[in-house]
Amino acid sequence: MPLTPDWPGLRAHAMRLADMPLRQLMVADPERARDFSLRVGPIHACFARQRYDRDALAALFSLAAPLPDAFRRQFDGGRVNRSEDRPALHTALRSDLGHGAQAEAARRSARDARDRMAAMVADLESSDITDIVNIGIGGSDLGPRLAVQSLAEFDRGRFRTHFLFNADASGVQRLLPQLDPARTAVVLVSKSFGTQETLLNGGILKDWLAGRGRLYAISAATDAAIGFGVPADRVLPMWDWVGGRYSLWSAVGFTVALALGMRRFDELLAGAADMDRHVLESPPERNLAVWHALTLVWNRNVLGHATHAVLPYDERLDLLPDYLQQLVMESLGKTVREDDSASPVATVPVLWGATGTSSQHSFFQALHQGSDPVPADFIGVVTPAHRYPQSHSAVLANLLAQSEALANGSAGSSPQKHYPGGRPNSLLLLDALNPRSLGSLLAMYEHSVYALSVLWGVNAFDQWGVELGKRLAGSLLPVLAGERPVDAVEDPVTRALLGVIRARQAD
Ligand code: F6P
Repeated sequence: MPLTPDWPGLRAHAMRLADMPLRQLMVADPERARDFSLRVGPIHACFARQRYDRDALAALFSLAAPLPDAFRRQFDGGRVNRSEDRPALHTALRSDLGHGAQAEAARRSARDARDRMAAMVADLESSDITDIVNIGIGGSDLGPRLAVQSLAEFDRGRFRTHFLFNADASGVQRLLPQLDPARTAVVLVSKSFGTQETLLNGGILKDWLAGRGRLYAISAATDAAIGFGVPADRVLPMWDWVGGRYSLWSAVGFTVALALGMRRFDELLAGAADMDRHVLESPPERNLAVWHALTLVWNRNVLGHATHAVLPYDERLDLLPDYLQQLVMESLGKTVREDDSASPVATVPVLWGATGTSSQHSFFQALHQGSDPVPADFIGVVTPAHRYPQSHSAVLANLLAQSEALANGSAGSSPQKHYPGGRPNSLLLLDALNPRSLGSLLAMYEHSVYALSVLWGVNAFDQWGVELGKRLAGSLLPVLAGERPVDAVEDPVTRALLGVIRARQAD
């Protein structure tokens, strides 16, 4: 049963703990740092700086009762995407844990696609192509771009990779002079093959190639891709049972495989598979995704925090907050439940963030002394990939210090120098950043998102909220192109603004 505001006992626990300094929780329970931590493969997770104690946690974990069955249903190909009547089988792209015909068929398709992709990677490697341009947006861009950027140490240097992901053509204009069309492979990634931004950039690049270089597509709409001009033997599949924001593990990762090689791409999948097994087979109290999701419920629904920060202390993970914004907010940014009832509890917090240590010199002031406590996930990497140990020690020192300072605070010599503390945060420490650990980390967030969707009763796999804007933009396009009169626009504000734009453009 989804969460209701009067869920037994949770509020009473929160009130009991409301005035207790977080530091006091540590003193009262010296084993907390150990017992509120979990080790899963290359990830050490610490929840000791959350505003709950063992009794509150026991009450919180009573919410987890439906989760083991829900995970099983998702892995086995249950139609967990109810509004579109589909399974969500991204786990079949990397794990063999799903039972039944649906999951088996999905695994077979995934294996075939992976093998075709490997052959295409090998073919490109032996060609004279030097540059890969990945064109996509949202889930067809963020996952590959994050993986290529954060795993740059593993890039074999065989290709230069580029990403075009915005309707704004500034990126195209900047990129094209650097490329030779005869030596460029353009990869169009679009599940629907109907996304405006991707088709715009794809059209420009196709014309620029003018039959030279190579054009590839990754899509569930094979016919549309072929109709666009992509040779049939250069189209790799997607399927309606994989959501865009869960699709990195499919051929959507083609550019990742080209940059890192198939062996590293398979390691990324293996890391996600490690997390899949952990999540499917661990009891809630030892299950990292469940801890993570319940902690978010505690902060959002019981303590009432409206935003949540993701703070990676590693420049290579610069894109992680963006990636998680799509994963978390496109999946859970809903207030109508799957049964069409309005959710009686708040759902997704606004997720935001940026890398430390630089963000300490921008928004951390507000995290320490602003009026709204912001729960945070600190993400650290124990072993760096560079040869500057002193710099790395500085990064880790700052990461640990900020987590501690936000939680514990400090009495000041004056009110303005007082640090209230009591700002809850979790730490996720990776042994090192490599394909396997990145795969595990991203899969953990995917499972946490799904657990939250079950607890809130919303569908994590549709995104109806983005359609209205797309529709309106489609109707305004002919007006901006001068093919329809401004007067035909119904909304008076849009009409007035179009008038201003038209007038300025005519100047
Ligand atoms: O933003 C809406 C959305 O449909 C995302 O869910 C998706 O990742 C993105 O657009 C791109 O869609 P497509 O892969 O179909 O081009």
